Amino acid sequence: MFISFEGIDGCGKSTQAGLLAEALRSAGHDVVLTREPGGSQGAEEIRRLLVEGHGERWSAETECLLFTAARRDHLERTIRPALARGGTVVTDRFADSTRVYQGAARGDLRDMVDRLHALMIATEPDRTFVIDLDAATALARGHARGGVEDRFESLGLGFQERLARGFRALALEYPDRVRLIDGNGAPEDVAARVKAAL
Ligand code: TMP
Repeated sequence: MFISFEGIDGCGKSTQAGLLAEALRSAGHDVVLTREPGGSQGAEEIRRLLVEGHGERWSAETECLLFTAARRDHLERTIRPALARGGTVVTDRFADSTRVYQGAARGDLRDMVDRLHALMIATEPDRTFVIDLDAATALARGHARGGVEDRFESLGLGFQERLARGFRALALEYPDRVRLIDGNGAPEDVAARVKAAL
């Protein structure tokens, strides 16, 4: 299976991706835990261009091309080979992040996002878990974490609220694939919700 975790910055999805990967490994699965932007050598190099620096460093269009380039490399070198040998891929973010961050929140570019996706990626996860958390709580967690990868967090609470609405809308748009998971509470409680949904 190909499983993705999505959500706003600080929602806890990276922790949840790790916990699910661990649980599936203990159950005997061959699991590749990966992330976007990144997940292959070239894509990790593109990641630095995307997540560091000033919030307005790129236009939304340029950003979209860079995320798509990174995703294509990730798909070719990490995701497809793992699925081809029968493995399970758990990724921290995939194309839904572009749909929401670039397509909805930073200008009305959803049509361009969809066309680029159809042309270059044309792959969806089997299941996507959106870890749903109130934007103020998530932003506080993100700031507590610190670090240099704060380009999107630096765009503020209003931006994170628009993103949260965008991710909830995705669950309605793709009801067969996307599950909304309540992100409140201890990591093990959230993990139990993910496992039940899976
Ligand atoms: P991360 O903090 O989850 O590792 O993700 C890095 C940042 O990149 C995060 O703020 C979300 C953003 N992002 C997009 O804007 N579009 C995308 O397609 C992806 C994968 C991430």
